[in-house]
Amino acid sequence: MFTSKKPDAEYKRLTEGDDSDAGENGQSQTNKRLSLLEQSFRRFSVIHASILLLEVILCALLVFGFVALDQTRRTLGSKFSLDGLSQLGSYNTSVRFQNGSKHMADSQDADEYWRDLLGSGGVISLNTEWARSQGLRPSAQSPTDPSQSIYQVDVFHALHCLNSIRQNLMSETPPPWDETHMLHCLDYVRSQLLCHPDLTLVTTNDLEEFVLDEVHTCRDYSAMVDWVHRHRWVEFPEWLKTKNAKNHGHEAAHNHSTAEKLRS
Ligand SMILES: *[C@@H]1O[C@H](CO)[C@@H](O)[C@H](O)[C@H]1NC(C)=O
Ligand SMILES: *[C@@H]1O[C@H](CO)[C@@H](O)[C@H](O)[C@H]1NC(C)=O
Ligand SMILES: *[C@@H]1O[C@H](CO)[C@@H](O)[C@H](O)[C@H]1NC(C)=O
Repeated sequence: MFTSKKPDAEYKRLTEGDDSDAGENGQSQTNKRLSLLEQSFRRFSVIHASILLLEVILCALLVFGFVALDQTRRTLGSKFSLDGLSQLGSYNTSVRFQNGSKHMADSQDADEYWRDLLGSGGVISLNTEWARSQGLRPSAQSPTDPSQSIYQVDVFHALHCLNSIRQNLMSETPPPWDETHMLHCLDYVRSQLLCHPDLTLVTTNDLEEFVLDEVHTCRDYSAMVDWVHRHRWVEFPEWLKTKNAKNHGHEAAHNHSTAEKLRS
């Protein structure tokens, strides 16, 4: 039994040994193959992942670039819109307020000062299509050029109001502005002050008087006047004269017919 067992055992051992040898060889080869595969797979996935990452980064850069470009275009667009009017919104000027009481007096000098200041009332004429492209709301068509629309730079309305108040206060013979107009004008100046609050911190010496001649940060008024001059409705003063003459004519005719009616 022993002998018969031995070869069995030996055979077993051998086969086991063979098997294990062959297994070791095969396994190491498979392992090698596997590790090669794994390595190339890893290499592949590393390359692939890198490419993917690059693609993601590129995509992000592209999106970011687009957003940045769009933003720049927008800010530039709004900055340079309306032929530079928007730029005039920046407070880039220092002005020391001075005693200008003489401008308010009832004098020829003051009248001249106001005539210069009001000019043609800030009434401007813009190409209608261009105004639309700049995002402006539609306004009345120019009676002297059908392709143009008429606008007014609003500060001139407030200045007109202030001058009306001045004239009513100062003039011995007030111009024929009724109380309704005066109340509107006072209210308009109020609205303007609330819309553009001056944030200058002024100093005091005695806790009662706050200094007048402080330096204020202002918009560049003369640059705005230049812009208005460039776009002014040139025929406006002439048109206004004709219109007023026509109105007077109409009024006179009306007065005449009323008088005739009363007579008859
Ligand atoms: C203020 O800005 C406007 C618009 O850019 C420009 O025209 C003007 O010259 C500037 N004024 C000053 C004092 O810098
Ligand atoms: C401003 O100037 C006028 C003379 O034009 C003077 O009478 C007045 O007292 C001055 N007001 C202030 C606050 O300095
Ligand atoms: C028309 O009559 C009114 C009142 O009678 C008068 O105030 C006005 O000045 C007259 N208008 C003209 C143009 O004559």
